[in-house]
Amino acid sequence: MYSVVTIDGPSGSGKGTICRLVAEATGFALLDSGALYRLTALASLNANIDLDSEAAVAALAEQLDIGFVAQDNYTQVILAGDDVTKTIREERVGMTASKVAAYPDVRAALLNRQRAFLTAPGLVADGRDMGTVVFPDAPLKVFLTASAEERARRRVQQLKDAGETDIDYAKILADIEQRDYQDRNRAVAPLVPAADAIELDSTSLSIDAVFQIIMRNLSELGIKPS
Ligand code: DC
Repeated sequence: MYSVVTIDGPSGSGKGTICRLVAEATGFALLDSGALYRLTALASLNANIDLDSEAAVAALAEQLDIGFVAQDNYTQVILAGDDVTKTIREERVGMTASKVAAYPDVRAALLNRQRAFLTAPGLVADGRDMGTVVFPDAPLKVFLTASAEERARRRVQQLKDAGETDIDYAKILADIEQRDYQDRNRAVAPLVPAADAIELDSTSLSIDAVFQIIMRNLSELGIKPS
């Protein structure tokens, strides 16, 4: 039987790092579902289609020509033959992703692609609705949060580490709050914890503490590091 660990939560909660650590420790595959929404957003921006047209964006999501290539310590993301690993992380792409992710037809178009990531021995799925919609039968579901201020501080640090100098904390915090609002209040698959999810707050828990809690829960389910 395949196992699925779902880790849902807002951006900046530490999901990406935790998912990678859990995938490494278990030998499970990794699904970064946010990347699929970001790729849909970038493809829509590149094609200059009307972002207010759900049908046009969904048609594009249906036909995305994408690839994920495992590199030493990151996953290279390809769109129509181009390396877009960095581009999909841009704020304009994130904002557009949050907009197009509210369209039910876009979510439906991406559903089977997400489920296709499940291979033996299992999958760590990172997103907003992994535990509620995409993998509702997952034996372990985690909902990881952190305060908006802490997530903004982490984003500032990331940008500094990337060599950026023109960093506006207030704007970053406002963007995070706007995206949270959009993701939490949309009608379809909003960002909410699954009823059977373990809720963890990484504002005060270190990445290692969160990782240890997840590994303990996996071990209680009989899933040991590979
Ligand atoms: O995790 P992220 O920041 O890369 O996600 C980008 C956007 O995609 C986010 O604002 C909401 C959306 N998203 C979603 O609606 N459902 C998912 N499972 C993952 C991401």
